[in-house]
Amino acid sequence: MNVNNKNCTSIWINSEGNIEVIDQRLLPFEFKTLELNTVNEVCFAIKEMIIRGAPLIGVVASYGMYLAAKESDNNTKLNALANQLKQTRPTAVNLQFAVDNQLNELLKISDKTQQIKKSFEIAENFRKEEILNCFNIGKHGLEIIKEISKRKNGETVNILTHCNAGWLACVDYGTATAPIYMAFENNIKIHVWVDETRPRNQGARLTAWELGQHGIDFTLIPDNTGGHLMQHGMVDMVIVGSDRTTSNGDVANKIGTYLKALAAHDNNIPFYVALPASTIDWNLTDGVKQIPIETRNEDEVKYMEGFVNNQHTKTLICNENVKVANYGFDVTPAKYVTGLITEKGICKANKEDIYKLFEK
Ligand code: MRU
Repeated sequence: MNVNNKNCTSIWINSEGNIEVIDQRLLPFEFKTLELNTVNEVCFAIKEMIIRGAPLIGVVASYGMYLAAKESDNNTKLNALANQLKQTRPTAVNLQFAVDNQLNELLKISDKTQQIKKSFEIAENFRKEEILNCFNIGKHGLEIIKEISKRKNGETVNILTHCNAGWLACVDYGTATAPIYMAFENNIKIHVWVDETRPRNQGARLTAWELGQHGIDFTLIPDNTGGHLMQHGMVDMVIVGSDRTTSNGDVANKIGTYLKALAAHDNNIPFYVALPASTIDWNLTDGVKQIPIETRNEDEVKYMEGFVNNQHTKTLICNENVKVANYGFDVTPAKYVTGLITEKGICKANKEDIYKLFEK
């Protein structure tokens, strides 16, 4: 999508043939990119959230396996590097999916040169597939927005989103944002309520930035505002992304998503989750019990990050010695999800419909 009126993706192979990504820790204040040239650099980028968002984590990890193939002279080492990659973040299943997918193929190849070549091919194909998946999520989700717009006689459709499930979290288009970008391209009047998404503020810093760069009308809101807006008819639908979806349609997404789903349910507002198949964990059937929830550094809660006089700053917002809990994600049970918007189409959040759509 657009950055300064030029097309941009969140990861690409540069003219030197190296992996290059946007340093998302600096947005929206600075736009800087960096190369990832070793498995350690990839692990650091995922852990420190230089790159983040489930689909992008998966794609970067797939390239991480290409670097792992280059760095390992035997399969024991390759397995060890794969494990190192898998341990960087626990909730987004795309990470496991991407690494295991590479590993399965690479362990079949004994010739090193061939293994490296294959690994690069897999990563490249995965990156392109995820772009196409998001494009198709957009196409299917657009139909829902069109319908609401029609029902409102062309009046503005108000969409609420949480966290950043935009192109920065994927490779291009985004998951939750793909239908929004497509509605915009189709001249449908839309407006987006962007949750700031404490503690890392992915809404304020990333979603607001990318929607703004594309010229989409949005309003940034504190995390607790959604319920009030819904009670007053100011939200027509909610679309969020997912970091892991169980085979029966429970959805793990950024902390606070569950509360939005409850408010949407209470106010009869459709709550959609947009996701590619790489986010479905086919082994799980109970999200609350089975999805591992990441706990993160307490400083993310105790400090607010900002930009003052051209300098990144961190400000303490409570007493230094307070007790803090920092869960990165929560699970929204399937019963609160109106539908899943996937690359294959839209389905209900239940096992039967998900299996049918993905021909399992
Ligand atoms: O902690 P993050 O920034 O990696 O969390 C990202 C999210 O929760 C996104 O909403 C999610 O990955 C949805 S898919 C684009």
